Amino acid sequence: MNARIKLIKPYISFDEVADDIKEIFDSGQLTKGQHVDKFVEGLKGYTKADYALLTTSATTALTMSLKAIGVKAGDRVAVSDFSWPATCNVVEDLGAIPVFIDVDIHTYNMCPIDLEKKLESSFAGVIVVDALGNPSGIGQIKEICHSHKIPLVQDSACAIGSSVDGVKVGAIADLTCYSFHPRKLLTTGEGGAIMTNNDQYAQWLTIKLAAGASGVKGRGLDFVDYGYNYRLSEIQALMGWMQLLKLDEITAERNAIADAYAATLEPLGFNRQKVDANVHHNVQSLIFTVPTGMFRDALIDHLASQNIESTLGTYCLSATTYYLGKYNDLQKNSLWLESNTITLPCYTGVDVKTVTDAIGQFV
Ligand SMILES: Cc1ncc(COP(=O)(O)O)c(C=O)c1O
Repeated sequence: MNARIKLIKPYISFDEVADDIKEIFDSGQLTKGQHVDKFVEGLKGYTKADYALLTTSATTALTMSLKAIGVKAGDRVAVSDFSWPATCNVVEDLGAIPVFIDVDIHTYNMCPIDLEKKLESSFAGVIVVDALGNPSGIGQIKEICHSHKIPLVQDSACAIGSSVDGVKVGAIADLTCYSFHPRKLLTTGEGGAIMTNNDQYAQWLTIKLAAGASGVKGRGLDFVDYGYNYRLSEIQALMGWMQLLKLDEITAERNAIADAYAATLEPLGFNRQKVDANVHHNVQSLIFTVPTGMFRDALIDHLASQNIESTLGTYCLSATTYYLGKYNDLQKNSLWLESNTITLPCYTGVDVKTVTDAIGQFV
């Protein structure tokens, strides 16, 4: 039996940060220090977005973004239907109504035709997802939102390092949200960020994310609003910054691994997630649709029996027990993708041949 082949391994080791972590402990400055400042500046420099605001997760980043654009109870917010539930949970949590938009069967991203069809009464916002890190089609969604004056929030939880026409995800939509969860290419354990070029959103978010403080009053802070604490610590920011330095290298390597898989799997009838010609995909997750007639879950079980981790692509939000029960608005492409996609191991040094051989035995 081969050694366990995992789905992903983080692109950071203890040795890379050991000296700085010791310095953080020695200094006693565990939060709000130079590493947070460096990471914020690093994210801005990398994406060329004007503002970066750190949060504890993409979930908190999305919630704050919806609040920034003024979403309130009863509002309708369009959401891509093929995603992790956080994408619509943040809408539901504000008492607003998620309107599920079906996805393109090839890119897995929000279908512009379905968005336009459902636009008849106006949306307070649109949350478009870069499914598995792929921002294909964002240009068209952005045009629709701009022409209807609807704020666009890009759920780029998976997409740091991806770009469209050379513009990094983070500098495209009105607000962009990253996740730094360990399944992502840049991880701080848990964490997230909001990127924006909009001065007004940035100013509002800066105050809200500082417990409502802006400037000083007497000997203390001036709390001009109520607010929140979704800060990242110095150690988390240090980890993030270290990975940012090698992010382009990581995404190039993941594309090469994806090509190696595709060379063997496509002739067997597997199809890789489609990426538009103007897009650089970070390959956050390496996804294929399984050949017609193949039972995807049986393939996952077969790989597990060979000590190889794999999993479904992601979820059809409108089919989850909660959202189906409440809204009964199933999206058909998204549902099909949930049952017919598989995520395969992808990281530095992954043994592609062992995985593709195991798949070959199953076909
Ligand atoms: C598309 C998408 N949005 C949001 C999230 C939530 O991210 P977090 O775990 O950082 O809250 C995820 C997490 O996997 C995701 O894939």
